[in-house]
Amino acid sequence: MSIAYLNGEYLPLEEARISPLDRGFLFGDGIYEVIPYYAGKPVGLVAHIERMIDGLAAVEIQSKTTLEQWSALLNDLISRNGGAEKNLGVYVHVSRGADVKRFHAYPENVEPTVFCFTFDIKDPEPVDRTAVHAYTVTTAQDLRWRRCHIKSTALLGNVMHFQQGYASGNSECLLYNDKNELTEGSSVNAYIVKDGVVITPIQDNQILPGITRRIIIDSLKEEGSIKVEERTVTMDEVYAADEVWISSSSKEIAPVTQIDGKPVGDGTVGEVWEKAFRIYTDAKFTHR
Ligand code: PDD
Repeated sequence: MSIAYLNGEYLPLEEARISPLDRGFLFGDGIYEVIPYYAGKPVGLVAHIERMIDGLAAVEIQSKTTLEQWSALLNDLISRNGGAEKNLGVYVHVSRGADVKRFHAYPENVEPTVFCFTFDIKDPEPVDRTAVHAYTVTTAQDLRWRRCHIKSTALLGNVMHFQQGYASGNSECLLYNDKNELTEGSSVNAYIVKDGVVITPIQDNQILPGITRRIIIDSLKEEGSIKVEERTVTMDEVYAADEVWISSSSKEIAPVTQIDGKPVGDGTVGEVWEKAFRIYTDAKFTHR
């Protein structure tokens, strides 16, 4: 049985309870993280916790938990769930807490609710373009809010876009803004490859500062054999790309071979993906 953490206590996940007046439940007023651990080793743990601390500060949720305390708590939860022998993701959720009434303004003297649980994640995909799982995606105008850099638990906009992809038999939905520029996917960052260069939209309020994205960019730049650019990417460029990838903590770097039913490049997983995934795989546990 999975052991969860709720407000200072470890307990079976099924027994975890929160108040219906919790602002996370009423307003989606909270910040979350998802961190992968492979055989007990985290990927980007410090970067994930720092992003959460930044997110909490951005929405003024008063949490006094330090980076060291978060990291000890998450590592402890992983080992309580037998994480040394398997691959686990840990979900971390901090809401503004439960008030005594429903009122939009931030309440005073309310303790944040902290909830964490683990879940099984798959083995990494093989570094092999002929064997890796390839994704098909659809596209839609990005109708979420203008604070996508905050990893808010209010995910209905993302959920609706994800469902657009899912309902049409795809596994993601790539999003574009009102200038026809790529932003990201409903639960992933996005990349194109053209003439050997990896290009990904710049980090601004239109996208989540993905930790996998950070590790990809840093490791490719450090290794040096593949050029990486962070710049505006138009949807015309997406449709004309040689390769398209998506990334997240659970998908790592995943190749996309079809967009809106049309093949990406020649319709097979590209060579640059394989090279980049090897570089990422070699570097992922060394990233902070
Ligand atoms: N999704 N963009 C969005 C909108 C996301 O929700 C995510 C992550 C990413 C990738 O970020 P990272 O590399 O830090 O996982 C980009 C998580 C995994 C989720 O909601 O389950």
